[in-house]
This record gives sequence, structure tokens and C-alpha cells, in this order.
Amino acid sequence: MNDVNESIANPGEALPRVALLGVGSMGGAILAGLRAPGVRIDGPIAVTTRSTASAAEYEAASGVVAFAGEADPDANRRAVRGAGVVILAVKPWAIHDLLQEVADDLAPDAIVVSVAAGITTRSMEALVPAGVAVVRAMPNTPSLVGRGVTGLAGGGSAGSAQVGIVRRVFETVGRVLVIDEDRMDALGAVSASGPAYLFFFVEQLTAAAGRLGFSEEDARLMAEGTVTGAAELLARSGEDPAELRRRVTSPNGTTERAIAVLQEGGFAETFDRALAAAIARSEELAAGSSAD
Ligand SMILES: NC(=O)c1ccc[n+]([C@@H]2O[C@H](COP(=O)([O-])OP(=O)(O)OC[C@H]3O[C@@H](n4cnc5c(N)ncnc54)[C@H](OP(=O)(O)O)[C@@H]3O)[C@@H](O)[C@H]2O)c1
Repeated sequence: MNDVNESIANPGEALPRVALLGVGSMGGAILAGLRAPGVRIDGPIAVTTRSTASAAEYEAASGVVAFAGEADPDANRRAVRGAGVVILAVKPWAIHDLLQEVADDLAPDAIVVSVAAGITTRSMEALVPAGVAVVRAMPNTPSLVGRGVTGLAGGGSAGSAQVGIVRRVFETVGRVLVIDEDRMDALGAVSASGPAYLFFFVEQLTAAAGRLGFSEEDARLMAEGTVTGAAELLARSGEDPAELRRRVTSPNGTTERAIAVLQEGGFAETFDRALAAAIARSEELAAGSSAD
């Protein structure tokens, strides 16, 4: 996908009116996707923040109405009235309070979507009126540049039509996988945490180049340029990564020797252990915050 709009499933059909409660890092990325040219929404996007200063950033934004809780205690309730899709993009610990706050003002057929890590649909369904559908989403930070990967899981209250609408919302910021909710922690360990693994790799390659005697500036240029260039090559070529690797790995050559060292270092096992640790931590966090 080269353009954020290429993947929109039903470009002709307008999305229902959207309320976005919380527009920080993740909410801001979703808002940018929804405001991209070619995305049609049935009415202005209502956004809310806690502080007046954050809401002021959207004062002049076309197609957006912003409300701040600091100035208007009814900000969230006002924003959700008449919205077909209500996206909760506040910190996980704040989700249940926010749902309780807005529950009575939700449209009877609203779809509530949480992007919060570790908050189950069941715990949210217990707080909203019958008829309201609940969907859980796990996006990642490349959504900020329209290249996100988002996992979606509908709760028992959400049918395929409602999950389909939420899919179209997240396709404005990248690619979407619909999965069973019990796979959400595993998906999070791969794609939500994944950007951090890649940035860590860049840090390590930069540091290793520095130890070979390169200046910090040159080391960064080599490591960052190589990783972004290789990622772009992977995206644009559509080739299998193993094939792309083979093309830089001549038999008995230098790269082959280096890859062998990485393999001997237990790369595969280390990845398995890292993902297992992320999943275990998600389970701990969910146990501590869930209203189940
Ligand atoms: N960042 C990621 O990589 C990532 C990935 C996947 C999922 N998520 C999820 O996304 C959610 C948000 O994370 P974030 O990193 O975007 O947080 P963030 O940057 O701190 O943004 C939080 C936003 O919520 C607003 N807010 C706080 N309390 C509010 C309330 N009671 N009513 C309305 N708005 C309120 C804040 O307003 P002020 O600016 O005025 O305080 C801010 O706009 C989290 O649940 C996280 O698990 C994040």
C-alpha cells in the first residue's frame, strides 16, 4: 500500500458519524486517517480531550468539532450524541470510567471501539446499554504515517456488519486483520510492540557501527538508511523477505557468514521468548484492570 486511501474497503459509502474520545498519539493518528482526502463521513468528527489546550489544536480543523473536559464537564457526553462509531483512545485505566460517563448518551445502535491494550470487550459490554456493539482494536504507531497494522476483534455484541464498519475506519491508517479476541495479546506482541523491536534493532546496529570506528553521524546514516530502505524495498517489491535476503547473501560470502552468527546466537528462540514475555505481561495487565 503506497497511499493511505488505497485500502479503504468501500470508498463509495460514507462512514457513520464518528466521535473520538482522546486525541493523543493514537487518537491523533486515527483522526489524520479519517480526515484524509477521499474518506467520506456522515457529519463532522467530534473529538474530545481533557485539557483546553489540546482541544484548541483542532479549533481551525475543517470537519472536526473539539470539546475539552476541562472547559465543559459534558464534553464526552456531547461528543457521542448521534455518533454511529465512538472510538475510545484514552489510557487503558480510564476506559471503564469513560464508558460509564457516556453510556446513557450513546445512540442505541452505536458501535463502541476501544484501542486500549488489555481491556476486554466483555468488560466494556457490561457498561453499555443492550444494542450497542463493542469492538476492540489494537493499532500500531506506523498508523501515524498511514502504514499501520491494526488487529480487530468484535465482542459478542458486534456482528460482521459492525466489525466491517470498524475495519473501514482503521483501513484509513493502514492494514487490518480481524481476529478472535483471545488472539489479541499475541497480535499485540507481534504488531503493536513490533515497531519497538525494529527501532531497537536500529539502535543496536548503530552502536555496533560505532564500535567499528564510525562517527555517530555516519553510523546512524548507515543503520537508519539501511533499515528504512530495506523496509521500503520489502513493501514495494512485494517479494518474500527470505528471497530479498537471499539476493544479498552470496553462497560462502560475507553476509552468509554474518547471518550464521545471528542464527547461532539463537535469534529464533530469543524472538519466541520475547513474544512470550510480552503476552505474559498483557495477561498480567488485563488481570489487574479488567472488570470481568
Ligand atoms: N501509542 C501506541 O503505540 C498505542 C498502540 C496501540 C494502542 N494504544 C492505546 O491508545 C490509547 C491512547 O494512548 P496514547 O498513547 O494515544 O495516549 P496519549 O497520547 O496520552 O493520549 C490520550 C488522549 O486522551 C485524552 N484524554 C485523557 N482523559 C480524557 C477524558 N477523560 N476524556 C477525553 N479525553 C481524555 C488526552 O487529552 P489531553 O491531551 O488534554 O490530556 C489525550 O488527547 C491507550 O489506551 C493505548 O493502550 C496506543
